[in-house]
Amino acid sequence: MNEPRFNRLGVIGVGLIGASFALAFRERKLCKEIWGYSLSGNSAIKASELGIIDRKIDTIKEIGEGCDIIVVSTPVLTIPDILRELSLYVSKDTIVTDGGSVKNFVINAEKFFKYKNYVGAHPIAGTEKSGPEAGFSSLFDGSLCIVVETKNTSKKYLKRVVQIWESVGMTVEITSPETHDEIMAYVSHMPHTISFSLAFSVKDKLYNGKKLIKYAGGGFRDFTRIAKSDARMWTDIFLSNKGNVLKAIDDFQKSLEELKKMIENSSESDIFKFLDSSKRALLER
Ligand code: NAI
Repeated sequence: MNEPRFNRLGVIGVGLIGASFALAFRERKLCKEIWGYSLSGNSAIKASELGIIDRKIDTIKEIGEGCDIIVVSTPVLTIPDILRELSLYVSKDTIVTDGGSVKNFVINAEKFFKYKNYVGAHPIAGTEKSGPEAGFSSLFDGSLCIVVETKNTSKKYLKRVVQIWESVGMTVEITSPETHDEIMAYVSHMPHTISFSLAFSVKDKLYNGKKLIKYAGGGFRDFTRIAKSDARMWTDIFLSNKGNVLKAIDDFQKSLEELKKMIENSSESDIFKFLDSSKRALLER
């Protein structure tokens, strides 16, 4: 693998993903300096105090003009506007990518860049935590990154962006934005809708004056860990992948309805088959 070497990395949105990317780059000595920009400024200040970035930057213009590799890692609905602004300032020697969890905006966003030097990506690695203090250098190690290709994507920059995500420890697969968003609706976005809904459905229930949630054990904890994720980030994801998420929820509701009927009818063998085939599918994946 040819590891790219850069002069200056610019991170726009220094939260979990941006900070982890910066830390992975620094650890592997892939650039000389790291600049960070965040809307509120607070997370960039924090990232600077923690030594994750070398300098807090106050404008997208400065990042665009001063960096040769830029990663945008802000909530999904904010990414297109940031890319549009960034495209005004980057030269052909700068490579731009992003880590957003939904990719349908890429088709338009690519058109902002006259040198075609933006290529979208989604590192499938994360936690329910957010902010720069949650970042760690090994977050991406051994995980899959989807890099998206459209009919307008430049092969030259696609190759560079693949190398960049590989250089922070990821295995890369290339798909279209449409395929990415359909798949993610089922394996990432729908589980979050269910986890948040489960937590919502029991949050106010009381038992003997105590919160029912206090009695929850490992199963409930495992299932709702992801509902501790950032509300802003997931609001953006559900809305930006609306059609696919609604379809995945419909499919899930059908399965739940099926199981409900089997329980209503006390159909022991059907329930067993349902549970066993689900378990097998997970073990065989
Ligand atoms: P985070 O909440 O930890 O960090 C987001 C950062 O963006 C914060 O520093 C915030 O100040 C900044 N920000 C918000 N709006 C901004 C704007 N308009 N301009 C500049 N900065 C802005 O979020 P996290 O988890 O790092 O997610 C970032 C992106 O990565 C999202 O698009 C998310 O979908 C994606 N992603 C998240 C994963 C996860 O497990 N957390 C996994 C893979 C991708």
